[in-house]
Amino acid sequence: MTKQVLILPGDGIGPEITAEAVKVLNALNASDGLGIEMTEDLVGGAAYDAHGVPLSDETMAKAQAADAILLGAVGGYKWESLDISVRPEKGLLRLRSEMKLFANLRPAFLYPQLADASTLKPEVVSGLDILIVRELTGGIYFGQPRGIRVLENGERQGFNTYVYSESEIKRIAHVAFKAAMKRNKKLTSVDKANVLEVTELWREVVDSVAVEYPEVEVKHMYVDNAAMQLILNPKQFDVMVTGNMFGDILSDEASMLTGSIGMLASASLDENNKGMYEPSHGSAPDIAGQDLANPLATILSAAMMLRYSLGREDLALKIERAVSSVLDQGLRTGDIYSEGMIKVGCREMGDAVVAAL
Ligand code: IPM
Ligand code: MG
Repeated sequence: MTKQVLILPGDGIGPEITAEAVKVLNALNASDGLGIEMTEDLVGGAAYDAHGVPLSDETMAKAQAADAILLGAVGGYKWESLDISVRPEKGLLRLRSEMKLFANLRPAFLYPQLADASTLKPEVVSGLDILIVRELTGGIYFGQPRGIRVLENGERQGFNTYVYSESEIKRIAHVAFKAAMKRNKKLTSVDKANVLEVTELWREVVDSVAVEYPEVEVKHMYVDNAAMQLILNPKQFDVMVTGNMFGDILSDEASMLTGSIGMLASASLDENNKGMYEPSHGSAPDIAGQDLANPLATILSAAMMLRYSLGREDLALKIERAVSSVLDQGLRTGDIYSEGMIKVGCREMGDAVVAAL
């Protein structure tokens, strides 16, 4: 049966980078009988401009019906002053929440060809291969109550709620332990258990799940220390598991170890591995529409989609090898450029990946 993939380009560089990933998927349809059907729809600021909401109910229904979703990026200067309830980011958060995509996998893998593109010394980052498992549908991003209220003295006060229930911690811990079992069997759970009760519980529950995975070596680390250790000695990490907000921050940090945030793919999965795939970076409105963006994170996200949701590990590997091969050829977008390499635009990079398939 033909698998349905919903493409949500979004805002800023989103349309450019997803177009390159679509090129790659079309090429695999033609050459390898991938057999997917792609339809496109709006999310984020683009959806707000068309419908007055960052994700329409129709698009939400299409997402629920699809076998997988590939998303570009959302947000931009143009929509920054909108009420928070209709900001572009809310479209993305609604997709994650209503589709129950609680497990966000963000691999920070350094292609050896890019060791010079990192701001850290090559010896610190070469060989780096970390998987960040970020809880995506809970924590302070979604906790209630939230808002901005007026106090008795007339002063305004902003507030959010940081909550995790045991079941939420347990299910993300299982995802992380299972991932660790397939890798180097080392798991670092990141929390702030010295200050926040919610993460004290996080630590306890992770330990209780650990009993089921005796082969995995578990370490707990406070988030401030983890942020430091990622720069000091990133190769100590194999799998990291953490809550929504810490994972948001640490994955941006980890991406820079790999040379550029333009290289970091991600998968957001539900209980049954149905998923949404998106680059970990944002919409980069400053370079939008100029053919400057790096499409590789999106192309690598498409590879993750083939692996996790569409059962085509063979074609996922094919894409990953093609990406490696264009890097071998010396092709670089601006964000990963270093002296002596060949600077290319977004389209040329996508074409090169298709050619390398
Ligand atoms: C990410 C992004 C999102 C997040 C934004 C766009 C809502 O930063 O996917 O990391 O905070 O989760
Ligand atoms: Mg982020």
